[in-house]
Amino acid sequence: MDKRNLIEEAEKVLNNNFQKEGFTIPCEGLYPFQWKWDSGFIAIGYAYFDVAKSKKEITTLLDAQWENGFIPHIVFHTDSDTYFPGPDFHKSELHPQSSREFRSTGMTQPPITGFILEEMHRIVEDKEDMLSFVKSHIDRVYKNHEYFYGQRDPRNEGLVYIYHNWESGTDNSPMWDDIWKTMNPPEYEFERRDTTHVDPSQRPSKREYDHYLHIIEIAKNHNYDDKAIAETSPFLIQDPLFNAMLIKSNESLINLYEVIGGHSNKIDQLRIWQRKSIRSFNEKLFNNELGVYVHYDLRNEKQISFVSSSSFAPLFAGIPDIDKAKVLVNTMLERFGGEDKYLCASFDPANERFNPKKYWRGPVWINLNWMLYYGLKKYGYDELAKRVKNDSVELIDKAGFYEYFDPRKNMYKNMEHGGYGGRNFSWSAALLIDLLKD
Ligand code: DGY
Repeated sequence: MDKRNLIEEAEKVLNNNFQKEGFTIPCEGLYPFQWKWDSGFIAIGYAYFDVAKSKKEITTLLDAQWENGFIPHIVFHTDSDTYFPGPDFHKSELHPQSSREFRSTGMTQPPITGFILEEMHRIVEDKEDMLSFVKSHIDRVYKNHEYFYGQRDPRNEGLVYIYHNWESGTDNSPMWDDIWKTMNPPEYEFERRDTTHVDPSQRPSKREYDHYLHIIEIAKNHNYDDKAIAETSPFLIQDPLFNAMLIKSNESLINLYEVIGGHSNKIDQLRIWQRKSIRSFNEKLFNNELGVYVHYDLRNEKQISFVSSSSFAPLFAGIPDIDKAKVLVNTMLERFGGEDKYLCASFDPANERFNPKKYWRGPVWINLNWMLYYGLKKYGYDELAKRVKNDSVELIDKAGFYEYFDPRKNMYKNMEHGGYGGRNFSWSAALLIDLLKD
C-alpha cells in the first residue's frame, strides 16, 4: 500500500464514523458515543481534509461542558444499546451543575483540547478562519483548566488527580492492579457489551469491571461532588500522562491567547499554573531508580513503580530537562526498544504483568506513539522519532486501522496480524494522516 492510499483509507474511516449529530464515534459497536480525548485526536485528522468537521467535533464536545467547567469523558448524544455502562448507569444529572441538555458520564479524560486547538490552527491553511474559531471556543477550554486547578488539586501542588481508571485513558493498565487489591467491591450483575464486539482475551476481566463500577457508585453516592470524591474514592491518582496533557494544553492556551492578543490575566494565570505544575511534576513523579516518570497514588501515599508508555508522555509536554530526557530515552530503549518489537508498548515488556494482547496491558497505541514521535523530535532525537513513526505506519499498513496492536514483530508474519480491539478505529486513522503529512 502506498502512502496516498493509506491517507485515503484513513479519511474513509473517519467519514464512515461521523454521525449526523455532529460527532465521530471511535468505532462502530464497541464505542457508539462521543469520547472526549478521541474527539481531540479525530479533530486533528479532519483538519487536513474537512475543516468543518474538525471544528464541529470540538464544538459538539464543548457544548456538553458543565457549568463548573468540567468536560465529561463520554457524551451520550444518541441512544445505543451496544454499550455498557450507558447514561442510566452514570446518571450525570446527579451533579447540580451538569449539562441539562446532554447526558454524559461524571468522569473526565486527559485534557488534550487545549493543544488540539493549537494543532488545528497549525494544520489548516486558512489561519484567519481558524483563529476566529479558536477565539470563540478557547475560553471554554480555559474554564476547564480552572476547574482542574480549582477542584482536582486538593493540596495545591499543581498536580491534578483522577478518581477513576477510565479518566486516565489507559483503562486496564497493570498500574492499577495493586489498587484493586485494596478494594473488595460487590460482584455486580450486569451485561457486558464490549465482549460481544471484541474477543474477551483482548478486554478487561469481569472482576476488573466490578471495581470500575464500584468507584462510580461511590462517586454517585456523593452526586459527583469533587471534594467528597477526593476524600472517599479508593482510586485517587496523579497520573503523568493526564498531567502532561494538562501542561501541554496550558502552553497551547498561552500561545493561542498571545496570537489572539489581550487576555493578559488569563495568560498570567496560565503561567503561574504552568510553573507550579512542571516543578511538582519533576519533584514528585520522577522515579530515579527506574529512570522514568511514574504515577503517584494519593490515596495510599506512594509512587506506583512501573514503567508504561505514560512515563514518556512528558517529553511531548516539554517537562523534563535535557538530562532527564536522556534518561527517559535510555529507559525506553532498554525496556521497550528490542529489535523484535515495535515501539512503543503501553506497558513494560520486561515486567511479568505485560500482556501483548490485552488493551492497555502491553499493546501499542497510535495516540501514545503520536505523542512520543513529537516529544522525541522536540528533544532532537530525530532518528528515534522516525522509528516510532515508521513503526506506527507499518502496524497500520500490515494490520489495518485497529484500536491497538501487538508489539511483537513475529505476530505479523504470513496472513496473520496483531491488530486488536475495535476495527476502523478513528484516532488510529486521524493520527496516521498527521504522521504521514508531517
Ligand atoms: C471502555 O468502555 O472501555 C471505554 O474505554 C471507557 O472509556
